[in-house]
Amino acid sequence: MLKIAVIPGDGIGPEVIREGLKVLDAVAGPTGLKYETTEFDWGGERWIKQHEVRPSNVLEILREFDAIYLGAVGHPDVPVGLVERQLLLDLRFGLDQYINLRPIKLYPGVWTPIKNKGPEEIDFVVVRENTEDMYVGTGGFAHYGTPDEVATQVAVYTRKGTERIIRYAFDLARKRDKERKVTVVDKSNVLTYGHNLWQRVFEEVGEEYPDIQKDAAYVDAACMWMVKNPEWFDVIVTTNMFGDIITDLGAMIQGGMGVAASGNINPKGTSMFEPIHGSAPKYTGQNKANPIATIAAMQMLLDHAGATEAAERVDRALAAILSSGKIADLSAGKCPPTSEIGDMVAAEV
Ligand code: IPM
Ligand code: MN
Repeated sequence: MLKIAVIPGDGIGPEVIREGLKVLDAVAGPTGLKYETTEFDWGGERWIKQHEVRPSNVLEILREFDAIYLGAVGHPDVPVGLVERQLLLDLRFGLDQYINLRPIKLYPGVWTPIKNKGPEEIDFVVVRENTEDMYVGTGGFAHYGTPDEVATQVAVYTRKGTERIIRYAFDLARKRDKERKVTVVDKSNVLTYGHNLWQRVFEEVGEEYPDIQKDAAYVDAACMWMVKNPEWFDVIVTTNMFGDIITDLGAMIQGGMGVAASGNINPKGTSMFEPIHGSAPKYTGQNKANPIATIAAMQMLLDHAGATEAAERVDRALAAILSSGKIADLSAGKCPPTSEIGDMVAAEV
């Protein structure tokens, strides 16, 4: 029995999650998958009503589940960053989901802004470190609000944290068995402490993987290569902050926020799957958001949970619908209604 905690969250979150669950229900029958979902009302709306984003024992509650399925967080009527920190980041950190896995895969039939590149060329995975860097929340103000104000935001990198994410990336390159190549993306020419540690660990761990090619790119250049020669990448391993930034770029070359999915993974704990996009408040409740990214996140969840056949069926269904031409435009507001896209994929699986 696969036990899934469902957190629809804010904005369009509930609408896209509904379609993901529709697809899960459709694929469970033919594959004999037994699952159970428990929904939680955590997020911005709850904060407005009861001044609490989520209960304080959230980690205890979630540890009982095999996986978490998250819609979107961020609410215009809640102080900036509050839901993001108390829901998303506290879960990533608290459940030690140290891998943020973001596949950049262009499905056949999906439009990309990159001229002369197709599914052959755009197929790599970004392994984003997910528990360190500037996201730890270390820093502060001095002389707040005065002309002499000083603000610091400290980027933290540990030997342990760096090593485990780099090792995961090498293992993934082996498992994918495609180009068998890992590219470390950093800014070690400027960040001469933290990213020097990354470079040393990459070299050291890399020696354990003589069968995997090693490459390195500074993050600014990596942005250029992602657009110019995306086929050079197989597995990218990068820091939390840079991973955040380059995966929005990645989402655009794979067809936009309507399709990009991610997994926050703790190989030995409870992992969480979500679309990369935000809560898109202006589309809330209008049946206008594209649920494909959230359905793709369900595909990742199933794959991670070992429900291989179900995951493969969802993947094939997504590929079939996307190449069918039934969704001419993937962007919110221009795509077919949210519920209709869910129906299409559910019928296909
Ligand atoms: C993401 C988001 C989050 C991040 C925000 C909402 C905290 O942008 O998942 O990419 O920065 O990690
Ligand atoms: Mn982001």
